[in-house]
Amino acid sequence: MNAAPANPAPDQPSRGQARSGPVIEVSGLRTQFGDQVIHDGLDLQVDAGEIMGVVGGSGTGKSVLLRAIIGLIRPAAGRIRVLGQDTGRLKPAELRAMQRRTGVLFQDGALFSSLSVEQNIEVPLREHTRLGPRLRRQIAELKIGLVGLPPDSANKFPAQLSGGMRKRAGLARALALDPEILFLDEPTAGLDPIGAHNFDELILELSQALGLTVVMVTHDLDTLYAICHRVSVLIDKRVKVGTIDELMRLPDDWIRDYFRGPRGRAASASRKQRPRDRSGTPADKGLSMAGPWHAGGERKDA
Ligand SMILES: Nc1ncnc2c1ncn2[C@@H]1O[C@H](COP(=O)(O)OP(=O)(O)OP(=O)(O)O)[C@@H](O)[C@H]1O
Ligand SMILES: [Mg+2]
Repeated sequence: MNAAPANPAPDQPSRGQARSGPVIEVSGLRTQFGDQVIHDGLDLQVDAGEIMGVVGGSGTGKSVLLRAIIGLIRPAAGRIRVLGQDTGRLKPAELRAMQRRTGVLFQDGALFSSLSVEQNIEVPLREHTRLGPRLRRQIAELKIGLVGLPPDSANKFPAQLSGGMRKRAGLARALALDPEILFLDEPTAGLDPIGAHNFDELILELSQALGLTVVMVTHDLDTLYAICHRVSVLIDKRVKVGTIDELMRLPDDWIRDYFRGPRGRAASASRKQRPRDRSGTPADKGLSMAGPWHAGGERKDA
């Protein structure tokens, strides 16, 4: 059982107010396209402030899982609660209001190539708010600074940015509406190791500074070790969830090969070379998040 109290109110908390308990609750999820069943009987909980990694072989349904949680794909069965609301029961306007409280960086989430970085960030602000052009521009500039892009990137077009800068611009767009939950689908794919490491650090800092919950699909073992509190592994249409140490104790060939293969061992070794606190996140970041998984590096309820 979760040691933290259940989320008391389904309505939106005021900003800065700490949430506790799960902000995402998936139970008995079944998704399918025609005859192809992607998930069946999938259960998953993500707690407030947690950084949850999602891994699994190609085509196992990681991206579909994110889309189902966000309400872009209607499940064939099961229940999904996000921020205390049952997404299957929401009217379209209510679903949009819920989606407003989440930010998404899709796997193929290319920026609009004909729009500048600033205009890209303004897209969700135009769609979901009635803010005027001056405020929209100011918010876009703020987000550009937040993700560590230089101010002059505002007027650049995606083709004029490096791959790492484009990822940051995409992240700035995902943060435009001050989401409570951030969904990232392979955010460091295609980045060089230093660029990927810097992006990881950025996600960790933002998660802490803004109290964000992060659900992140990634193939990057370094990312999993460096910033994820727990990992969900998609296997046989369901997820196995735990810390990496817990997962490695499971009698599962795919998990063992994944974490104990040459790349897994290298990522684990590089983790051990860095000073860390017991939560498995970098100690030099001065973590202060309260969460059940912070007890002795493992969740009390796991
Ligand atoms: N809109 C759709 N219509 C039909 N089938 C789909 C749709 N979206 C995804 N699928 C199928 O669902 C399965 C899971 O796709 P998904 O994109 O979730 O895989 P993934 O785990 O994210 O893979 P990868 O690691 O390659 O990104 C695939 O077989 C895919 O072809
Ligand atoms: Mg995918």
